[in-house]
Amino acid sequence: MRAADIANDLTTVLATEEEILAKLNEIAAQVAKDYEPDSLVLVGVLKGAVMVMADFSRALPMLVPMDWMAVSSYGAGTRSSGVVQIRKDLDTDIHDKHVLIVEDIIDSGLTLSWLLENFAARGAASVEVFALFRKPEAAKVEVHCRYVGFDIPNEFVVGYGLDYAERYRNLRDVAVLAPHVYS
Ligand code: IMP
Ligand code: MG
Repeated sequence: MRAADIANDLTTVLATEEEILAKLNEIAAQVAKDYEPDSLVLVGVLKGAVMVMADFSRALPMLVPMDWMAVSSYGAGTRSSGVVQIRKDLDTDIHDKHVLIVEDIIDSGLTLSWLLENFAARGAASVEVFALFRKPEAAKVEVHCRYVGFDIPNEFVVGYGLDYAERYRNLRDVAVLAPHVYS
């Protein structure tokens, strides 16, 4: 589904599928330079990072294992609560591994700062973050993010894995959700 298919639910398109894929290729090339072959583990944060992980991992010119965490910090609302709950833990031991967390979006930063501490406590050799989107104006805690796709305004966005109440994840583009949809 493209933004034009549900134009009434959206206001501004912030990144088209084509722009997202071009950015993922660019960042994958950078990551391939920064890490030794076979040293890296990608950890995706479910469910929002599914699309990013699928396209980003395939853009990498090297073998890379993938693992997943599911955490919840939002419920069905449009604001972060700051309370992070593990819904699904990693299947693998990340002790002594170089971990790259793959995130759809950094909003308040609360989820990621919690994850960073949690992974450090498991003895990872290094933990870095790749976030496809970041809202700088929404930051409540500073999170060092080594790779960022796009900085966007502090508005609620959907598409490319990002949802509102489980809808819009299968939109190929990323766009601002029209306020009439949630108010
Ligand atoms: P944070 O803890 O506030 O940084 O929020 C992190 C998580 O909230 C992200 O991984 C998303 O799943 C979700 N989230 C934050 N902003 C948005 C948005 O604009 N649209 C959809 N989901 C969002
Ligand atoms: Mg998420």
